[in-house]
Amino acid sequence: MSTDKKDWDFKQDTKLGHAGSDPAGEFGIINPPVYHASTVAFPTVAAQAIARATPNAFTYGRHGSPTSFAFEDAVAALEGGARTIAVGSGLAAIVGAMLAFVGQGDHVLVCDSAYRPTRNLCENFLKRFGVATSYYDPLAGAKEIAALIQPNTKVIYTESPGSHSFEVQDIPAIVEAAHKRGVKVVMDNTWSAGVFFKPLDHGVDVSVHAATKYFVGHSDAMLGTITGTDEVKDALYESVSVLGYNVAPDDAYLGIRGMRTLSVRLKRHEANALKVAEWFAGRPEVETILHPAFASCPGHEFWKRDFTGSSGLFSVVFKKASEAAITALVDRLELLALGGSWGGFESLVLPTHVVRSAVPFAGGERCVRFHVGLENADDLIEDLGDGLTAFNAAL
Ligand SMILES: Cc1ncc(COP(=O)(O)O)c(C=O)c1O
Repeated sequence: MSTDKKDWDFKQDTKLGHAGSDPAGEFGIINPPVYHASTVAFPTVAAQAIARATPNAFTYGRHGSPTSFAFEDAVAALEGGARTIAVGSGLAAIVGAMLAFVGQGDHVLVCDSAYRPTRNLCENFLKRFGVATSYYDPLAGAKEIAALIQPNTKVIYTESPGSHSFEVQDIPAIVEAAHKRGVKVVMDNTWSAGVFFKPLDHGVDVSVHAATKYFVGHSDAMLGTITGTDEVKDALYESVSVLGYNVAPDDAYLGIRGMRTLSVRLKRHEANALKVAEWFAGRPEVETILHPAFASCPGHEFWKRDFTGSSGLFSVVFKKASEAAITALVDRLELLALGGSWGGFESLVLPTHVVRSAVPFAGGERCVRFHVGLENADDLIEDLGDGLTAFNAAL
């Protein structure tokens, strides 16, 4: 339970196997029990006062349980953060992180590749509270970012790579420009699963995850995490406390169980996705592959410099497409289900409709996103071949 486990000098896989684990405190049980709790009873007024003054003591269900603290410790160890706060969804994590830093009259700079509900948060919700948003080219470097920072800019929001259009961002350059002006950098790190990229090591202040995806890994729970440096961890906690967020103990349990196999699963997602993407690259229907490990992906050089691998999510842009052809492809697929989420063991397909404000998206309406799961890649390729036959017939 103690957050100092993040400081263990172990390799990533060892941390993933042990962080957040405390069998000695749980009758020798390997996995943290699922504590269902709202009220916590105290024997005396003094005992309650001591608990309230102690970080990570159990005082009330909304403030966390031994199960959610174990999950938080595991994520903090993976990300190298001073503290992780678990919340009920990835979107809740994004909201909690943003609200920690902005108030009326402030401004946020958001990458044009951001996940659409993040844009919705900024354009429709933050705006109501007097926070303005502008979008920047996800490929912007330090100079371009510096030129866009306003006196009231409080946050630069990054999502690298973008989860539909896959531009990889120059995070160190963005951090440099931001910190020169006292601006915080928040990053959606979901694509790398925390395994292939370490935002805080690159100067990012807050890393958020849709833990719903790879951390849980089995498409059966909603979770989010907010991990911050020592400097911002209290601001993050205050923001989340005020919002009344909490995480259900069953979901926290599924989160920590997923962490134990995270890097093994990710290696298979990576290998399978590369095989499927390479197959797509050889198909005559395909114009370009938006996969960070491919030279064709915008920002590929930053992926090569900063990431240690790639996950299972990428997009394909077809030379020619129509709604009917994309529908025929999706409907023909038997192994890849049509689904908006990702990060589970199963393969998925999703026609994408990228919304932009700062820079146009070259893929237009010819773009389809794939999540490659843990199945046999040759079976997936055969299924996709049948899908492309249907696509061509409907063009
Ligand atoms: C990149 C990214 N960030 C955040 C989220 C939000 O996560 P959740 O669905 O858990 O709210 C998603 C969900 O699809 C996502 O793809």
